Amino acid sequence: MTAEKIQELTARRGAILAGGGEKAVAKQHESGKLTARERIGLLLDPDSFVELDAFVRHRCSEFGMEKTEIPAEGVVTGYGTIEGRTVYVYAQDFTVMGGSLGEMHAKKICKVLDLALKTGAPVVGLNDSGGARIQEGVDALSGYGQIFFRNTRASGVIPQIAAILGPSAGGAVYSPALMDFTFMVDRTSQMFITGPQVIKAVTGEEVSAEDLGGAMTHNRTSGVAHFFAKDDRVCLAEIRRLLGYLPSNNLESPPRLEPTDDPERRDETMNAILPASPNRSYDMRKVIRGLVDHGEFLEVHAHYAVNIIVCFARLNGRSIGIIANQPAHLAGCLDINASDKAARFIRTCDAFGIPLLNLVDVPGFLPGTHQEYGGIIRHGAKMLYAYSEATVPKVTLILRKAYGGAYLAMCSRDLGADIVYAWPTAEIAVMGPEGAANIIFRREIAAAADPEAARNEKIAEYRDRFATPYIAAARGYVDDVIEPASSRRALIRAFEALQGKRDVLPPKKHGNLPV
Ligand code: HXC
Repeated sequence: MTAEKIQELTARRGAILAGGGEKAVAKQHESGKLTARERIGLLLDPDSFVELDAFVRHRCSEFGMEKTEIPAEGVVTGYGTIEGRTVYVYAQDFTVMGGSLGEMHAKKICKVLDLALKTGAPVVGLNDSGGARIQEGVDALSGYGQIFFRNTRASGVIPQIAAILGPSAGGAVYSPALMDFTFMVDRTSQMFITGPQVIKAVTGEEVSAEDLGGAMTHNRTSGVAHFFAKDDRVCLAEIRRLLGYLPSNNLESPPRLEPTDDPERRDETMNAILPASPNRSYDMRKVIRGLVDHGEFLEVHAHYAVNIIVCFARLNGRSIGIIANQPAHLAGCLDINASDKAARFIRTCDAFGIPLLNLVDVPGFLPGTHQEYGGIIRHGAKMLYAYSEATVPKVTLILRKAYGGAYLAMCSRDLGADIVYAWPTAEIAVMGPEGAANIIFRREIAAAADPEAARNEKIAEYRDRFATPYIAAARGYVDDVIEPASSRRALIRAFEALQGKRDVLPPKKHGNLPV
């Protein structure tokens, strides 16, 4: 009797494990995609996956659906481990009914979201779906709503990571958008609210699905996606890597690795890393590489608003988040997109207790009507807000330019930086020497026999007098002026000293971030 029951169980489970069947699986592979179960296998530690709700079945009876079998309801859900830590996961199975989301499919996802939130473990959603299951109508819509609600309630409590590994259309895109990080895969993933046909019908505009909502579009142009991967395997490996920098929830510390890079290491190349002329650019990534453990860091939004770099790295084994101006693009100016990118990252780090390192070389906010009309005031304010609100340890290192509002926006002492260091090359002032000299010496320059020579003389005078770190250091806005080669050691000591930082915001329902 028991043997028969076990046979039945095996047969039932076998049918579920087969998903949409051989043909559909072959089609999935031909299109460059892995199946839901293959993806989970690569995401989690070997043999760690525990499936939940494999036997869940839809209860739709419209359009002949009562006879339609949808193995696992088109989504594989459960939990497992990544580097030994528990992670909840769901993976939509495109081989069954296009991974479309119905009432019970949504309930399965909600169950893992609830468990993840209750137990304080990250959740990873692997999306590959034709969207709301059309036959189920409003029940499918309700399912999405329940997911959005949970994504929002879990925000800032547990890390939520979305990978788009196929289509994601209509309102379905909003679950990934509510999560902390979105990964997209080259050529196989697309996200849009309205697809190419609808756009053509409504506006007459013609655009391919890839150009409209492909991985590079969302990584480079819209900023909707944070990570670009060349295929499913790379994507899943990168999710594992990202989780290595994050705690399992907001009450835990991020995992600390046994430090294997010398915390006292000097880097003599840092002393020559800045170009001789203050108007020449350089790649800030080189500075980051020189500072962090083994030169390793994980860039977020690497293709978007490239005038600012945000990344995770480690200093003496501990996770930090770095926000760094990138002089190699737009001279490192802050603009609308850079402000959004940085503010979002600062808040993500703060939510998960990851200390912030700010590397400053910023000539100012980007001038122009495009920026003003686009609301740079509102967007730039997000950075000020995010830094002021952040209670994690904040260390700022000023390498070169730190002018005006942008100096403040990059986490000056006044926005709550706990420790501020400057290199001897730092220029901290209200504005650059050229602009300043033109304004405050306007009359002297105009009256001079050779106005151009007089202008250059006044610029040099201003630079010598004000474009240094010493006036800021004299007031205590800068704690110390350090030799670039010793920066790693100084930063590691600063973060070690700040480990015990406790800071709380005034009681409130929630703040009102300018959006
Ligand atoms: C029911 C669906 C489905 C859906 C796909 N399928 N999407 N079934 N509801 N939303 C089924 C197909 O009928 C097909 O079944 C199988 O899945 C595979 O789909 P194909 O079309 O053969 O695959 P492909 O050619 O790769 O095209 C994929 C696709 C296309 C581009 C995603 O299927 C498509 O356009 N689907 C509809 C997308 C859509 O409009 N969704 C609603 C979005 S609005 P068979 O039986 O033939 O194998 C939305 C609102 C959410 O989601 C709102 C939240 C607030």
